[in-house]
Amino acid sequence: MTGFAIAIDGPVAAGKGTIAGLLAHHLHGFHLNTGAMYRCLALFCLENGISVSDQKAVVEALTHVWFDMTDDAVFMNGEDVTEKLKQRSVTTTVPKVAAIREVREEMVKRQREIGLKKIENGNVVIAEGRDAATKIFPDAKMKIFLTARPEIRAQRRFEQMGGKHNATISYDQILADTKERDYKDTHRTVDPLVSDPEEYGYMVLDDSDLNEEETIEKVLKELSL
Ligand code: DC
Repeated sequence: MTGFAIAIDGPVAAGKGTIAGLLAHHLHGFHLNTGAMYRCLALFCLENGISVSDQKAVVEALTHVWFDMTDDAVFMNGEDVTEKLKQRSVTTTVPKVAAIREVREEMVKRQREIGLKKIENGNVVIAEGRDAATKIFPDAKMKIFLTARPEIRAQRRFEQMGGKHNATISYDQILADTKERDYKDTHRTVDPLVSDPEEYGYMVLDDSDLNEEETIEKVLKELSL
């Protein structure tokens, strides 16, 4: 098979990571988790006492950060940081890092390089993030905008956090937070998440009422594979 790219973008908790991972499994492809790269940079800043408000310092920090990814692990400068990337401190810090124009330019360059190398070797690359179709692979064979109703996405996050017995935060708070993040994602000045995905050639896939298998089936059908 000749290599090609599939780009998956969409709002928080739409299931992009899960669907990209499953697609990579089905197609024996490579899941390019671009959010993990921004998370690595945030982690590097936290661990090295670099203030993420100091944009110049963050851009400089990126020159010291190297990434590697396998199906189930993310490495930063050779260290397996998969678990560390899920820390709350990383989640709250990363939006500041991802909003820096020079950081984004360098990330897109590296993401494209990583992806193209795989494609040249005949692999399918499933790039997942917020700008995978608009900036990283505008030439992707398929562009998917994966979304779900805010209430559904909030419910998924609530369950991931332990549900009504273990979550330390209420469903209502998560719903409010989800809506706020949607607003921020679509209104940030640099590379916002598009709010009119059809205009950008995306196939919009609302998985509110679909399970993972049904979602994958729709994508594969569209790809005619
Ligand atoms: O998908 P995620 O939660 O791991 O993303 C982490 C952060 O990086 C989040 O603030 C969105 C941002 N991001 C981005 O701006 N562009 C991408 N291509 C991927 C993630």
